[in-house]
Amino acid sequence: MSSGFKVPLHILLLWLVILQGQARYIEKNEVVEDTLGLLNTELKRELSQGYIYSRNLKCVDMLSVDGRFTFSADQPQLHCGTFFIGNPDEIISLEYNYVNIDCQGGDFLKVFDGWILKGEKFPSTLDHPLPTSERYTDFCDSNNIRTEIRSSQNVAMLFFRIHTPGNGFTLTVKKLVNPFPCNVISQTPDGRFTLVIPHQKRNCSFSIIYPTEIRISELTLGHFNDLQIPAQSCAGATDFVQLLGGNRLDPSRMYPVADICYSFSGPAQMKVSCDNTVVRIVSSGKYINRLTFEYSQLGRHELDKQNENGVEDFCYAAD
Ligand SMILES: *[C@@H]1O[C@H](CO)[C@@H](O)[C@H](O)[C@H]1NC(C)=O
Repeated sequence: MSSGFKVPLHILLLWLVILQGQARYIEKNEVVEDTLGLLNTELKRELSQGYIYSRNLKCVDMLSVDGRFTFSADQPQLHCGTFFIGNPDEIISLEYNYVNIDCQGGDFLKVFDGWILKGEKFPSTLDHPLPTSERYTDFCDSNNIRTEIRSSQNVAMLFFRIHTPGNGFTLTVKKLVNPFPCNVISQTPDGRFTLVIPHQKRNCSFSIIYPTEIRISELTLGHFNDLQIPAQSCAGATDFVQLLGGNRLDPSRMYPVADICYSFSGPAQMKVSCDNTVVRIVSSGKYINRLTFEYSQLGRHELDKQNENGVEDFCYAAD
């Protein structure tokens, strides 16, 4: 990725908060937009009745609603990116309606299956089914306007570079239901989720980009009736849950806070005061693995307490 487009995670967080604030402000002014996807039922009804929400894109932007979006360069725009995010159980569908860019002249328009910040990817290469090169769809390679591009999870990105003022594109964004969500970035700082991996050899990461408190209420690894003895260490386990913390996006480069490799029911809770907390399941495909957890944002008071104890130091740990 070009070096000119870099957004640290905490800036992204700040931005989410700002967008959230904006959405509230806009709501008051009766313009229908809710940037963080907390769509009110009225808007949803309008959408289902064929009303198509549309607006212009900024060079760096974040979208969580369905609609038709247009970018038109007012000056050469060399490092632009749009972040897309849906609900945990949705995937993103993108389709170009109109594209006017100069591929030969060095313009580009690429979709990435996931998010990339500072060269770090979500989902990480260990969790995504495709190799990195296949996660990019380059408009200049295909020139095919009518092809729908679908993400594998609830987040996707668009990168573009447009040299000539007046050039640009229009695309339609839709969110589709994902019956087996695996990798997820939570749109909200609080929530509850059940990850199920049914006999698949794959890894799933659920990322919460806020300092958070996680409560695991139920975990089934392997056969429910197996006698489960809490192990001293998870070395050698084929199926297990990891809790990761860090101030970065890529789960494979985050710090392991805890490993759990036995089933249990009943609450286990943990506080992680990093910018990003990830709950990850590693699955061998031999079993149906199932994990239910709740999460809520740590308050300022909690954060200060954790910081005093120096617990947050590992958030900055290099890999
Ligand atoms: C899942 O992650 C582990 C490391 O945590 C890795 O060794 C393994 O190859 C991954 N499995 C798949 C199917 O990608």
